[in-house]
This record gives sequence, structure tokens and C-alpha cells, in this order.
Amino acid sequence: MAMVCLTDFEEYAKEHLPKATWDYYAAGADDCCTRDDNLLAYKRIRLRPHVLRDVSQTDTRTTVQGKEISFPVGFSPTAFHCLAWHEGEMATARAAEALNTCYITSIYCTCSAEEIVAAAPNGFRWFQLYVYRDRRFTEQLVGNVEKLGYKALVLTVDVPYLGKRRHDIRNQFKVPPHLGLKNFPAMVEVKKQDKEGYIIPQLTSDPSVTWKDVHWLQSITRLPIILKGILTKEDAELAVEHGVQGVIVSNHGGRQLDGVLASIDALPEVVDAVKGRIEVYVDGGIRTGNDVLKALALGAKCVFIGRPVVWGLAYKGEEGVREVLRLLKDEFRLSMALSGCRNVAEINRSLIQMSKL
Ligand code: FNR
Repeated sequence: MAMVCLTDFEEYAKEHLPKATWDYYAAGADDCCTRDDNLLAYKRIRLRPHVLRDVSQTDTRTTVQGKEISFPVGFSPTAFHCLAWHEGEMATARAAEALNTCYITSIYCTCSAEEIVAAAPNGFRWFQLYVYRDRRFTEQLVGNVEKLGYKALVLTVDVPYLGKRRHDIRNQFKVPPHLGLKNFPAMVEVKKQDKEGYIIPQLTSDPSVTWKDVHWLQSITRLPIILKGILTKEDAELAVEHGVQGVIVSNHGGRQLDGVLASIDALPEVVDAVKGRIEVYVDGGIRTGNDVLKALALGAKCVFIGRPVVWGLAYKGEEGVREVLRLLKDEFRLSMALSGCRNVAEINRSLIQMSKL
């Protein structure tokens, strides 16, 4: 079957993955309103293209936190890549390196941070984490990923508790013991095992975490800190005041609080509040080059994709993820040209019909 768009990879993954794994990747919280709205919201936005601009050459490159990437799409952190492909996060890392983009490694990876770095030594990576009750563990982890050459810490702030995902409960979703969570050698807090040794993920951070802990994190690292899970102008303003270097406008792919607005709908108010003082990124529901164009036009410096990466893995491992990226890059280049943009600096709000927002 010819893979023509990202949803072709989704169909393949749905057909070929075990049901419980597919359900885990696809899951949204409760009624899945926000998960589904993440996609629909992009479809509602209308474009205002500019013509007669000589688009014989288009340059898709941009920078994030000062580092050049080949186009403004990186990988959001997603857990348990070995469930989709035996080489797991090592395959993901190689694909991101090959296409020169940013891979945010999930703290819940099924390959260790060391294995990921060894698999793609020249890759550009950020590390996503939560703050655990055991602050010494977080501190050790931060020291380790800093030493391994990760370029930023992404603190996910929308999981004081795990959202309620009905299929995972019905399926009694668990990760087989031979995979394991490689960053957690001895943490019972997140790694509870049932009688057969299967790991039951209890994936929550310390629910008492506040802005004070952002300061604490800053005090133990020299890396830039990006907050993932900001959806309002109030929190965006606080993020700037607390001296972080970036925010990812995200609702966790609709897996946490159901009923929050689509991330692309939250983007403009965050961009307006931040006023260019720090970089703003967005994830959730990006499936086409047009979606990337719309997010950049509304002020995102870069977008991140979650589920499409695991679909690519399920299709053909590293090669599958490369195909997903290449496809999205080609679509984005076409969207730029058709809307009269020769480089990403030319993408701005004039491309969006704001009255329809
Ligand atoms: C996630 N997400 C996530 N976020 C995070 O900060 N840490 C994590 O470990 C995970 N794990 C995870 C697993 C799976 C299977 C999914 C689908 C998502 C959320 C992820 O980073 C991102 O916000 C969304 O996936 C973006 O939406 P799309 O691109 O999947 O629509």
C-alpha cells in the first residue's frame, strides 16, 4: 500500500498492533472530546494565501533554542516505543537524527537514555521529565541526561494525576516485564509489578508540584527549561516571570483533562501573552503540512508530533518514522509554496482568516 498521508500510517498501525497497544496509543481521556477536537480545530481554520511571489525556491529550515533544524516539526515525548517496534526509542532517535530535527525523549522510554544517545550520537535531543516525590532521583536523572548531551529539559506540567483512559482500564493495560522503564531502576512509585511481573504504569508526577519546583529544577541544572502543557495566557505569563526558556502549548493529545480547548485554539492567547520573550511551541492533532503552516502562522516557532511517530515505528521502525517525517516535510514545503511563503520567516498571521477563529 502506498503511504500518501499520515493517516495511512495510522490505519496500518491500527491493523497490525495488538489491540491493547493500539488502544493505549490512541487513547484520549473520558469522552475523547479534546483528543478529537485537536484535529477538527485545524480543519476549521481558513487560510489567506499570497500569490505571485516566486516560490521556485522554498527554505523550510528554522531554529529552536538557537539550534538549526531542517523543518519546524519535532517529536513530542511519547512512552514505550518498544511496544511498537523492537528497537524502540533507538529507532526513533536515528530517524530524528537523519532528518535533523528535535526528539523530545519521554522519561518513560523503553530504551535507556544511554542507549538512545549511542544509537544516534549526533542527534539533537531534549529530555522530558516529571518531578517525583523523591527529589534526589529527579536530580540524578537530570545530572545524567545533562552529561549525555541532552540540550534542554521539558517539564510536563499537566499530569498531577493520570487522566482517565477508559480502554486502558478495560484492557488492564500493562507493559511486559522484559521491556521495563529503563530510567527507573528502583522506583516503586512508578513501577509496580503484578504477580507475573508485568509492570503496571502508575505514571504520575508528585501532585504537590508548584512553580516553586520550577525554581528548584532551575537550581539543579544549567539546561534551558521548557514547560509542556500550558494552555492559558495566565500560565504563559507566569512561565515568563519564572524565567523558563519556552512553553509547549499542549493538552497532552487530549489524554488528561477532557473538555479543554484544542491546543491550536489555545495558541494565539499564549503567543499574545508571551510577546516574543520566550519561544512558544504547540503539539496535538498535527497531521498535515497545512496544519504545520497554520500553527506557525498563529505564532508557534515549531510544532511537535506524538502519535504519528509511533505509527511510523509500527510500520517500519526507523525507516517508517523517516517516511512520516519526509512526507510531512514535503507537504509543508508545498503548503508554504501554495500560500506564497519562501521561508518560515514569511509565515505570519496574515495567512489566517482571523474572523473565523
Ligand atoms: C503521550 N504524551 C506524553 N507526554 C509527555 O509529556 N510524556 C509522556 O511520556 C507522554 N507519553 C505519551 C504516550 C502516548 C502514547 C501519547 C499518544 C502521548 C503526550 C505527547 O507528548 C503529546 O502531547 C501528544 O501526543 C500530542 O498529540 P498528537 O500529536 O499525538 O495528536
